Amino acid sequence: MLGLKLPTDPRWVNIVEKNIEEILTDHAFCEQKATSTAISLIVSFPEYTELVQEMTALVKEEISHFKMVHDIIIKRGWVLGRDRRDDYVIELLKFFPKGGSRTTQLVHRLLYAALIEARSCERFRLLSEELKDQELATFYRNLMVSEANHYTMFLGFARKYGEKKEVDTKWQQLLEYESQIIAKLGKSETIHG
Ligand SMILES: [Fe+2]
Ligand SMILES: [Fe+2]
Repeated sequence: MLGLKLPTDPRWVNIVEKNIEEILTDHAFCEQKATSTAISLIVSFPEYTELVQEMTALVKEEISHFKMVHDIIIKRGWVLGRDRRDDYVIELLKFFPKGGSRTTQLVHRLLYAALIEARSCERFRLLSEELKDQELATFYRNLMVSEANHYTMFLGFARKYGEKKEVDTKWQQLLEYESQIIAKLGKSETIHG
């Protein structure tokens, strides 16, 4: 349903399970980055009225996810650590050429956001199904639904503002490229690691 070409190796959950504090820290910052992405789309593309409306709603939702993760960190007696380096995102960005028209730039940023939502959703599903920690399993099941909606929204905007056929071709190429990145990952206790 998410179009991803390669599923995450389920053994990734075994790595995560050994270090819940680490995954929660990384996850909190994923939610912060999702919030920042929504804000930066508003700043960069203010004339896209429908996008601005949806991004405003998304800012609230993503920062509420940040708080939910932060609340769990506090409840478990930990303090939020520093942001972690996200090699997945660094590699993903290399797919997109610099420059191009304003519409192309917008489409690229929307596809980038759509893919991160899709992969996060897939990872959350895996956590919800495989984690023995029931509190966290339920937490990830609820979040999975939100991220699936975000994926659909970003892809929908890319198709609406770009040339649909061109966008679909680019999306397929991006999915292919992403599967090569993910084939090398699944070995660390971060959301995209
Ligand atoms: Fe989120
Ligand atoms: Fe999201």
